Amino acid sequence: MKLSHFQTFAPVCPVCRTQRGSDNALVIANVFDGDDQVIQHGMLHCSEASCQHEYPIIDGIPIIVESLRTYLPQQLADLLYRTDLPADTLSLIGDCCGPGSEFDAKRQQLSTYCWDHYGDLLPVDLREPPHSAFVSQTDQECSGSMTRVLHAALDRCSETIASGADLGPGPLLDVGCSVGRAAFELAARYQQPVLGIDINLGMLRIAAKILRDGLVRYDRRRVGMVYDRIEHELKFSAAEFVDFWACDAQALPFAENSVAGICGMNILDSIHSPTQLLFEISRVLQPNSSVVLSCPYDWTPSATTVEQWIGGHSQRSVDGGAAEPMLRRLLSGTEPSIPLKLIDEQNLPWHLRLHSRSRVTYDCHVTLSQKLAERQPAPTVQ
Ligand SMILES: C[S@@+](CC[C@H](N)C(=O)[O-])C[C@H]1O[C@@H](n2cnc3c(N)ncnc32)[C@H](O)[C@@H]1O
Repeated sequence: MKLSHFQTFAPVCPVCRTQRGSDNALVIANVFDGDDQVIQHGMLHCSEASCQHEYPIIDGIPIIVESLRTYLPQQLADLLYRTDLPADTLSLIGDCCGPGSEFDAKRQQLSTYCWDHYGDLLPVDLREPPHSAFVSQTDQECSGSMTRVLHAALDRCSETIASGADLGPGPLLDVGCSVGRAAFELAARYQQPVLGIDINLGMLRIAAKILRDGLVRYDRRRVGMVYDRIEHELKFSAAEFVDFWACDAQALPFAENSVAGICGMNILDSIHSPTQLLFEISRVLQPNSSVVLSCPYDWTPSATTVEQWIGGHSQRSVDGGAAEPMLRRLLSGTEPSIPLKLIDEQNLPWHLRLHSRSRVTYDCHVTLSQKLAERQPAPTVQ
């Protein structure tokens, strides 16, 4: 955790926020390993005497979630996942755990997201053997697609700058940052402090390693349980502006009106409650600041309970089950708890790689919205 980011984002205790409605600052209670700029291992405490909840900093990542007792047992596999082990050792562990195991699912997930976030920066000698024109083409043209979607959306922000829609100046958030690329891109583009937050420790540890060591290391799935070790240098020009924290995007540990821009790429359909996410985004955004969201509406009940889906059900309703009209209504500026106004929409391709002979292409709905200067009055009850 960078001390500069701790000061800029001034995290508040999520327990006090959620359970008491009060913003009590977190303080640095212990530094087990660190210096005057970065803490690798330490402990944060709530400053409120009657609370004093503890939040650990592990491998440079502060874990600021409401219920550590629930969170840490869920993240145990990620916490103990060792990318420093030799590739053959991990391969043997993978064979023993077998397909469908938690280890298998996590390795696949890291392979998929690292390919999209950093595949476009892969050194030539680490590219997949071009056993077909398809693979060579997808590696070079399709990986890096989230970054292209992000920049296309940010270009629209800049074009509508006359209406004050650009991100910043001021601290920026990347919610659901995964292995981190969008945070590095935001920092390079805006030269402002950027915080990437995610709930998945395995992904955050890859992002934190790039930040700390300028090195990305993951296993890229070739076929079945066969993976190839990928390790190479990665240096981003404005990395000093970036940090990564473990936080729940549905209960952001930040004060109201504290950030100057947000991007949330492909998270609306990967989170328990998309409307709670929109509520939290609009709460922490400063008035007139903007948020870029993209979503392929690939709903799954394991991520989002059906009752929480935005569209994707109730085909007989007025929207015929479509997600876009529902999101437009939520972003119309008339929803009292979500003071966001949609100002631009586009549809862009997002590619993910499952293994050497499999790619998935999504058609993402990409929106740009702005926080209203004043909350709309609540509708009068008849
Ligand atoms: C589909 S992935 C998209 C990742 C990245 N933004 C991208 O576009 O490549 C969704 C991400 O949201 C994260 N996520 C899901 N629920 C979350 C929550 N409650 N708080 C923070 N992040 C969450 C997941 O861990 C995952 O990294």
